[in-house]
Amino acid sequence: MVSRLVTLSEYTRAPYGMNPTMSAPTCRAAAFAHSLTYVTNKVSVDLSGPPKTMLSTLYLKALDADFERPVLGDRFAKEAIDKLNFDWRELEITPKWAPLFTVRTAQYDIWVREFIAAHKECTVVHLGCGLDCRVFRIDPGSDVRWYDVDFPQVIALREQIYPTRPNYQLIATPATEPNWLDQIPADRPTLLIAEGISMYLTEEEGIALLQRFIDRFGTGELQIDFFNWLAIKSQKTQSLVRTSGSTLHWVVNSPRDILDQVPGVRLMTAVTFFDASTFSRVSGVFRVAKSVLRLVPPVRKSLQYHRYAFGSAS
Ligand SMILES: C[S@@+](CC[C@H](N)C(=O)[O-])C[C@H]1O[C@@H](n2cnc3c(N)ncnc32)[C@H](O)[C@@H]1O
Repeated sequence: MVSRLVTLSEYTRAPYGMNPTMSAPTCRAAAFAHSLTYVTNKVSVDLSGPPKTMLSTLYLKALDADFERPVLGDRFAKEAIDKLNFDWRELEITPKWAPLFTVRTAQYDIWVREFIAAHKECTVVHLGCGLDCRVFRIDPGSDVRWYDVDFPQVIALREQIYPTRPNYQLIATPATEPNWLDQIPADRPTLLIAEGISMYLTEEEGIALLQRFIDRFGTGELQIDFFNWLAIKSQKTQSLVRTSGSTLHWVVNSPRDILDQVPGVRLMTAVTFFDASTFSRVSGVFRVAKSVLRLVPPVRKSLQYHRYAFGSAS
């Protein structure tokens, strides 16, 4: 973590703005005292585009942790937002939308735990990790190698706010860079957990990435979520997309779209937001929406959580 001290220009600008009647030396003394209030141990955040979207998911997880009946209950997210110097109002977030993300994260936590339980010695590759605290929530044992992967500017933030741990590495790279997988030993069943990232890739980039993954690791699982055509088409209405200035691309309407394009994968399960086992933790307006939207399949199937096996892993 770094301390942010006032800059010289902040120091010299402040006194005359504060009280133009003071003499220059008095002003400078006052400014120095004033500057102390600007000293902060928080880490500055300056992101845009897809890297910025992870601030919304982190913030919603932190809000969820304070709910009377949280879906995820992630205390690490709560601690993390306190370490960042960021005006969270910029994200235009309403707490009531938290389940849209916490249901997904909680569902994938269950599936990741199942993979680890089934494969005593394994590797987990958490792609598009953002500032998500999955490695801390799951706290895998020493037989699990864990890699958190994201753009360099996101990994730089992770390094400043989270501790490291044994058998844990960060990889700072765009997912589309073809060689980053070479840094990961291919000697164990390997899980790709890619939550909230597919939609920022083009279909061509996404399919190539999944194929590279199964070709390198031979056996394991792909746990990845997708947006259907409606979720991609309505992207301008999504505050996370709007406030980050991102563009969404890859449409996946059903597991068939993956099975037809990635030879060697077998569908284990696919659920929508409403069918996820963790949806049962949600109350209020989403429960009503579930019964109403039963009659509107494109909306009901907007958010899809898929899980595939490849190689001998089952
Ligand atoms: C909506 S956030 C989700 C973050 C995290 N998985 C979560 O659920 O909180 C999307 C994340 O995907 C990352 N991402 C998007 N496109 C990427 C790419 N081409 N390469 C690496 N990371 C990418 C972003 O930087 C961001 O951290």
